[in-house]
Amino acid sequence: MASYDIIGSIAIIKGEGKTKQQKLQQAEELLKKPSINTVVEKATEIKGRLRTFKTKYIAGEKTLETFHKENNCIFKLNVETCYFSPRQVNDRKDLAEKIKKSDKVLIMFSGIGCYPTVIYKKAKPKKITTIEISRACNDYAKINRSLNKIPEDKIEIIQGDVKKKMPKEKFDVIIMVRPNLKTTFLKQALSCAKKGTKIFYQGFSKESDLPKMIRQLEEEAIQNKKKLIIKDIKKSGDIAPYKFRYRIEILVA
Ligand SMILES: C[S@@+](CC[C@H](N)C(=O)[O-])C[C@H]1O[C@@H](n2cnc3c(N)ncnc32)[C@H](O)[C@@H]1O
Repeated sequence: MASYDIIGSIAIIKGEGKTKQQKLQQAEELLKKPSINTVVEKATEIKGRLRTFKTKYIAGEKTLETFHKENNCIFKLNVETCYFSPRQVNDRKDLAEKIKKSDKVLIMFSGIGCYPTVIYKKAKPKKITTIEISRACNDYAKINRSLNKIPEDKIEIIQGDVKKKMPKEKFDVIIMVRPNLKTTFLKQALSCAKKGTKIFYQGFSKESDLPKMIRQLEEEAIQNKKKLIIKDIKKSGDIAPYKFRYRIEILVA
């Protein structure tokens, strides 16, 4: 894995095992890139249900807010108060290619709105509804909808916990950009699914534990009186040594 991430004009370096001098040296090198104005260190692991981490200032302009460009979209965000992974750029593009113009799409755990924005701009589905618990993320999601010139009625942003605030309607496609937490949140997704709904479930596991993760999803579906057909399983990134992010494409039968 790379020893830093770049989000907009901010480089986020990994500090473990490095002296103060080594961190400053790395920052000086990074600041030579014309697009980088700030270097911070990732000071904690990603924690809690908001999936955020603390940073420590190293060099350059003192700011945590930036504009990030990808997939012909632009996102404003604060790198400390909001989860955002530039590494999922291809996952967003790839998912957008699977969405049809006639689809009504639900995006659970929508963060600053990067998945809905890329999907709307590329696929122009009928409507996208999003749900996200973090107020900071939703404030940016509204800014990002407007920065990307998307009409308000095309992306509806619901503020709240998926356990309490799920919409009452059914969707053609449900995208679960899940936090890496124990709860699957499948029960909540299934409450908005009908026969034929496609669910893109993001799960985290070792390759050897993948069958266990699939079994758990199938059992939870049965408890909720639904049957799942697993259509595809794709590795969409690595999150730790031997541990991967998987995108599981599910058809509700
Ligand atoms: C892995 S992040 C994905 C964010 C975004 N989709 C992205 O890729 O940048 C998971 C998101 O789920 C949100 N979240 C966690 N638990 C939640 C819950 N119970 N209801 C709604 N959102 C939740 C977090 O605030 C976080 O923004």
